[in-house]
Amino acid sequence: MRVIDIKGRKGTADDLFMDDNYPDPVAETDRIVVRIKAFGLNRMDIMQRESVYPLVLFPESGPLLGVEFSGLVEEKGPECKLGFKIGDRVFGLAYGSAYAEKISVRERMLIHMPPDMSFETAAGIPETFFTSMQAIYLVGNLQKGQNVLVHGGASGVGSSAIQIAKWGGAAKVITTAGTDEKCKLCESLGADVAVNYKKEDFAEVVKRETDGRGVDLIVDLVGKDYWLRNVASAAMEAKMVIVASLSGSVIPDLDFRVFLNKRLMIQGTTLRNRTAEYQNNLRDAFVEKCMYHFAVGNMKVPIDKVYPWTQVADAHRRMEANINAGKIICTTD
Ligand SMILES: NC(=O)c1ccc[n+]([C@@H]2O[C@H](COP(=O)([O-])OP(=O)(O)OC[C@H]3O[C@@H](n4cnc5c(N)ncnc54)[C@H](OP(=O)(O)O)[C@@H]3O)[C@@H](O)[C@H]2O)c1
Repeated sequence: MRVIDIKGRKGTADDLFMDDNYPDPVAETDRIVVRIKAFGLNRMDIMQRESVYPLVLFPESGPLLGVEFSGLVEEKGPECKLGFKIGDRVFGLAYGSAYAEKISVRERMLIHMPPDMSFETAAGIPETFFTSMQAIYLVGNLQKGQNVLVHGGASGVGSSAIQIAKWGGAAKVITTAGTDEKCKLCESLGADVAVNYKKEDFAEVVKRETDGRGVDLIVDLVGKDYWLRNVASAAMEAKMVIVASLSGSVIPDLDFRVFLNKRLMIQGTTLRNRTAEYQNNLRDAFVEKCMYHFAVGNMKVPIDKVYPWTQVADAHRRMEANINAGKIICTTD
């Protein structure tokens, strides 16, 4: 089959190339081979390409990039019992190797696509919506009526976190993004307030919007540069869930009193290095809480741009330049 690989398995966007003689995946045991129609890009693909991602390789990860896909069921293993049929339209999360014509995944991780959902939309769901499910429910324990601050609101993770928080009953969802256009996108997804952090101090906006009380839950992917303003934005006993630290992870002269004064709870979370059982449970939680909202059009995947997979290098460059508002998707041919 054809796949996108990296020359020397490490490099720049220019080193991505189409290998048209890669071994086909196998549908053994409870695995299903899906013919991929579309896959989503994630920031971690860039980090993995550069070999700076702390990759925990599961036997099924494979060396290729890509953790989310949509496509058609092509072949079923002998132990499959969940009723998927050849030709079914499905999407799912993988440990890796979705930049390919075909992928072999445990049937337990697959989800049926609603009839009018496009392959591009479905491919953009798993990584960021599962991550946001974790951040907001499993780790953040959102309660109805709480105020939430979501950073990187126009990112893949941020755009799903806004929607999950809003439909999960948050009173006010405040978000940050780097351009007015990105802020508009965040508002269209349900954010009550979108702060262009290049023009306004988000901590000041949080103070104003919450009558000085602060937010109960912060979903952060920026890290160092936002640390002090995040602490200032937190309500008493707020939770801060760290999913990434795009601006840096070392905070010099960290004063522990910031934890004490607000009885602040801080927890990091990851998705890719979780066990299959954990990911299965997350998949089920996502289906229960979000699939209805997708089916009736409440939840959306904001798609920034769709590239044919032959132009995957351009897709990577767009993400590296932080231009994307929403998800970047590649389609196979
Ligand atoms: N822990 C997990 O399980 C998990 C799962 C998925 C993703 N992640 C991580 O979450 C992060 C976002 O992933 P994604 O795929 O959603 O990314 P994305 O769509 O590429 O968006 C990232 C956005 O973050 C903003 N940003 C980048 N550097 C920044 C900085 N220094 N300060 C402030 N904002 C910055 C930019 O938007 P603006 O123009 O608005 O600043 C950028 O477009 C990545 O680091 C990824 O590895 C973690």
